Amino acid sequence: MTRIICLASGKGGVGKTVTTSNLSTALAQFGKRVVAIDGNLTTSNLGLHLGIPLYPVTLQDVLKKKARLKEATYYHPAGFRVVPADVSFEKLMLPKAHDLMDIFYRLTGDADFVLIDSAAGLGREVQAAVEAADEMITVTNPELPALTDAVKLNRLADKFGTQTLGVIINRVKNEPHEFKTEDVQDFLDIPLLGYVPEDRNVSKSIAKKEPLVTYRPHSRAAQQFKAIAAQLIGEEYKPRFTFGLASRLFGWLR
Ligand SMILES: Nc1ncnc2c1ncn2[C@@H]1O[C@H](COP(=O)(O)OP(=O)(O)OP(=O)(O)O)[C@@H](O)[C@H]1O
Ligand SMILES: [Mg+2]
Repeated sequence: MTRIICLASGKGGVGKTVTTSNLSTALAQFGKRVVAIDGNLTTSNLGLHLGIPLYPVTLQDVLKKKARLKEATYYHPAGFRVVPADVSFEKLMLPKAHDLMDIFYRLTGDADFVLIDSAAGLGREVQAAVEAADEMITVTNPELPALTDAVKLNRLADKFGTQTLGVIINRVKNEPHEFKTEDVQDFLDIPLLGYVPEDRNVSKSIAKKEPLVTYRPHSRAAQQFKAIAAQLIGEEYKPRFTFGLASRLFGWLR
């Protein structure tokens, strides 16, 4: 069975693309067949996170029926497939839910997971991705503005009959003013899938155009992404953190 999951947030910049790229990598490492799709057709950047900024054929070409889905599907060295969106202003477009559903349907059977990196907000573009997906993961930061937007997003998922799997809290700094994980769960009233700490390796991995899970597999954030992926497939995985000198040594050896 193919699980079609949209990663969404009300507020922008909370870490949907980072999460999509790293969950795809982690699920692939657990042996799952994954297709990551850039469902953000206005401010697309999944392709940038994954290494090739200018793909010759993209999701826009498929939606406009100028190319076949196969032609817009690329194999990432981390072991999963990617359907990127074009980053140019000329190719900016708003997809329709049924066109996206048509694409997802074509992937059914050929993948265990289809992960859709959604745009931010609650506009038409996001609505199309949420409606077209079967399940949704809410990505948020532990701050009030992100959480209030996430509440609205969850209502949107209810409206479209898309199952909210739970929340991933990203960029956790463990500062006193932050919402604690239990508070986030109470606030949103959905299960906690996991949290990812603030980790400067994340921006380094983006600069290297590589998922963190392969770039710094022993980093705290990478370990959390692996734990979340394990939870999604019901596998046992205990994050193994390395500290100080040991973690630097891993970096040098690499
Ligand atoms: N766990 C983290 N630790 C440190 N920095 C992070 C972390 N997660 C994300 N970031 C930073 O936040 C930025 C935004 O992340 P990302 O692009 O994934 O957000 P987004 O929700 O997809 O944004 P948009 O709404 O614009 O699509 C990244 O460029 C990265 O620098
Ligand atoms: Mg994004």
